[in-house]
Amino acid sequence: MTERTLAIIKPDAVGRHLVGAIIQRYEEAGLIPLGMKLMRLTKAQAEGFYYVHKQRPFFDSLCSFMSSGPIVVLALAGENAIQRHRDLMGATDPAKAAEGTLRKAFGTHIEHNAVHGSDSPESAQYELGYFFSALEWPQR
Ligand code: CMP
Repeated sequence: MTERTLAIIKPDAVGRHLVGAIIQRYEEAGLIPLGMKLMRLTKAQAEGFYYVHKQRPFFDSLCSFMSSGPIVVLALAGENAIQRHRDLMGATDPAKAAEGTLRKAFGTHIEHNAVHGSDSPESAQYELGYFFSALEWPQR
């Protein structure tokens, strides 16, 4: 089934000039960008995006980090895109991520883990809607 998922290239990866390398990996994996923008979140916007983690001890630090510099947000489309994108990213903690995954290659810390991806159809719907309006989708 063709799905859409939300990807974020986080401030650590943007700051290390890894945007092109990461987008190349998406395209090579058949995860095709449908929408893409470079932006910087306010802390409140980061808190809104990560609201499901609001009770977690790392929430404040995560939201400070995610608003500390520019990010690139992408809507990716492809067959079984949500799970395949998660497989491409690897484990949340780069130290535990498998060889060949984005977080193994580009992450440096469980918080500075280079990329984010939606973890379910429900979160993809929320996260895509958080960054893209219906009017912005190109026809493919
Ligand atoms: P992400 O996929 O963006 O979803 C939530 C983020 O919280 C996660 O990646 C990590 O960057 C961060 N995170 C998850 N667990 C921890 C943790 N134990 N300590 C610090 N940050 C975490």
